[in-house]
Amino acid sequence: MDDILVLGATGKTGRRLVRLLRERDLPVRPASRSSAVRFDWSDPRTWEPATKGARAVYLVAPDDPAPIAGFVEQARGNGPVERFVVLSGRGIEHVEGDFGVGMATAERAVAASGAEWTVLRPNEFAQNFDEDLWHAPVRTGRLALPMGDVPEPFVDVEDVAAAAAALTEDGHAGRIYELSGPAALNFREAVEIIGRAAGRTIEYVDLTPAAYRAELIAEGYPEAVADALGELFAVHRAGHTVEPTGDVRRVLGREPIAFADYAARAAAAGAWSA
Ligand SMILES: NC(=O)c1ccc[n+]([C@@H]2O[C@H](COP(=O)([O-])OP(=O)(O)OC[C@H]3O[C@@H](n4cnc5c(N)ncnc54)[C@H](OP(=O)(O)O)[C@@H]3O)[C@@H](O)[C@H]2O)c1
Repeated sequence: MDDILVLGATGKTGRRLVRLLRERDLPVRPASRSSAVRFDWSDPRTWEPATKGARAVYLVAPDDPAPIAGFVEQARGNGPVERFVVLSGRGIEHVEGDFGVGMATAERAVAASGAEWTVLRPNEFAQNFDEDLWHAPVRTGRLALPMGDVPEPFVDVEDVAAAAAALTEDGHAGRIYELSGPAALNFREAVEIIGRAAGRTIEYVDLTPAAYRAELIAEGYPEAVADALGELFAVHRAGHTVEPTGDVRRVLGREPIAFADYAARAAAAGAWSA
């Protein structure tokens, strides 16, 4: 078997990638803690059955970097895996602190593995507004972040998954792709677009980094998570991720999905309905 092992297969990019690979009749093996093929980064006994016979791996790294190099080595020997596609994040090389250390470790581990590797470094996902961290605040009509007017070219995860699926083709080895949306929007503009699509008013409130940290902790987030998010927004505020890139076009041969199209789709699916 020449299976493509998709880690994080229930997550925002992984489950879309599984769908795209199946549409192409490619042999796909979805894996995560809750998938039929059980894969748990913290339980190495789950790695052997997940990697056996796999030729390629879509690697969604854990936050904890400790198991990553061992997994890559195990997959190389056991698959044997010949190609890795790593989901990383744009601006990763500018992080000061522990945020993203898992992604950075995965980038290094595949580069040292002797296998073909490709790294995807996407901007913030548009789907964070309806499937993740910013969904609940947007539904309550108030999104508060420490971003000021700094723009972010949000990328639709459909484009990230499509890029990952394209990497089943040759010609991407040793490349790092910075996947962005077509236009940089600040958060005020982004929530205005969502508000128009959803037919409601959503306020963007600008916070200092300290006030943001205090809000997260008051909402029950652990201090480590609040600190990690603080480091992420510091990278964005420093302007490292503001420019749209041409990498979606480079990989897919088409323009990236516009944020307004994402918002219309999510609104039509009821993402922000009362
Ligand atoms: N969100 C963004 O805007 C963004 C932007 C750029 C980069 N990234 C990066 O993309 C990565 C994925 O983020 P995401 O937001 O897409 O994640 P997500 O949608 O929450 O998906 C995480 C996936 O990992 C699996 N998982 C969690 N813990 C696991 C464990 N211990 N062992 C095995 N699988 C585990 C989950 O499935 P189970 O629960 O079934 O195990 C799930 O399929 C992160 O490294 C993030 O930093 C995110």
